[in-house]
Amino acid sequence: MKRRNFVAAGAYGLGAMALNPLLRMHGEGGGMWATTVFHPAAERMAWWREARFGLFLHWGLYSILAGEWMGRTDYAEWIRNNAHIPIDTYDRLVGRFNPVKFDADAWAGMAKGAGMKYVTLTTKHHDGFCLFDNPLTDFCVRSTPFRRDICTELNAATERAGLRQCWYHSVMDWHHFEYLPRRDWEAETRAVGGAHIANYLPYLHGSVRHLLTKYGDIGVMWFDGNWEGTWTHDMGMELYDVCRQAKPDVIVNNRTEGWSQSVATRHPGDFSTPEQTIPATGLPGVDWESCITMNHNWGYNAHDHDFKSVPELIGMLVDTASKGGNLLLNVGPMADGTFPAESVDRLAGMGKWMQVNGDAIHGTTASLFAKSPFRSTTKGNRINLFVTDWPADGALPLPGLRTRPRSVSLAAQPDRHPTLNTDATGAMGLTALGAAPDPVCSVIVLDFDRPPVVGA
Ligand code: GLC
Repeated sequence: MKRRNFVAAGAYGLGAMALNPLLRMHGEGGGMWATTVFHPAAERMAWWREARFGLFLHWGLYSILAGEWMGRTDYAEWIRNNAHIPIDTYDRLVGRFNPVKFDADAWAGMAKGAGMKYVTLTTKHHDGFCLFDNPLTDFCVRSTPFRRDICTELNAATERAGLRQCWYHSVMDWHHFEYLPRRDWEAETRAVGGAHIANYLPYLHGSVRHLLTKYGDIGVMWFDGNWEGTWTHDMGMELYDVCRQAKPDVIVNNRTEGWSQSVATRHPGDFSTPEQTIPATGLPGVDWESCITMNHNWGYNAHDHDFKSVPELIGMLVDTASKGGNLLLNVGPMADGTFPAESVDRLAGMGKWMQVNGDAIHGTTASLFAKSPFRSTTKGNRINLFVTDWPADGALPLPGLRTRPRSVSLAAQPDRHPTLNTDATGAMGLTALGAAPDPVCSVIVLDFDRPPVVGA
């Protein structure tokens, strides 16, 4: 994290609140952006809204270096840039990419087991290396000892597992000759020559078309690296159109747009992408997906063992869902093709919880409660309450609930029914909760005869 490009780190996090019209319209509660209403195509967003939880995979040549260069150990997928690795040196990693233990079904199985519904793979990160057999460049998996097209195998596996395959693809490209700007530190060793970013576009578009037409039913094109001064509004619009034409119902994130653009004319994309953060009050009226790492890095770093705990990660998933967003949780696979042990452990831990409580996450919408001692989600005539601080006195107020539930039960123990009480003022609450069914976060299910109403 420390060595990350600060523009990248801030661009979609909290810093984006001031820049992104979608965020701004809600973040500032009105003003000139309040009229900028964004209508996502409900049909193409349906599966994605239902999904709520996906796996982000950052994998590439950088995984071989495992975050280490010349004695420093805090790098990851930005290593070529941040450690100033000359292009020829970096290119030689192609000869070392041989993930003999790569098993796409194992990856898809772990995602599915965790309760995830989609998998977003870095088909190409900023270093420019393609994990797929890209007919438009040799700087791809075809040139490695491994040769096998990672995208083909992963796509087949996710399909078998019933997950949606999604592609991350970097606009910024530190390898393509025509892409500009060069890194400032390589100005002398890598001349600009006659390069022009306009000549890079056919390559970018061709790669994207390939990714959207030569594999299965791709769910999302997830762009990134769109903040450099050479990338313009028009280029962003065109890229969005390339996707839409290649696959009319593909969902495209909000990172096709040029950052040199005035906020008023920015293309919003189909969903917002807060990075390493969950917006305090969600982003009402806008589709959004928080992408978050399990430790401190996106790409594999052999020295970074500071992983979030399973309870913390479950808390993040619940927090995101209760605010009406998706969580894209990252794993940085190792060079041999396997996931770090800590990630395997976290996915399994979340899966254990999701197996019991997943119904309170999938297909839900944001909490109806303005203020409450629990988080919640809504699904038709049902409200799910997520209780992390299980009340010692067995009593839980339901502040603002106006409609009376037909039944109250526990997701983990459907036969256990806490008692519903209404006091003299009409305020409802639960009593006789008994012991918490889950040590981390227990789900209480309220079922109504009609869509429930919650007031202030
Ligand atoms: C940033 C980083 C990149 C990472 C991405 C994930 O934009 O540049 O390394 O892939 O965030 O959202």
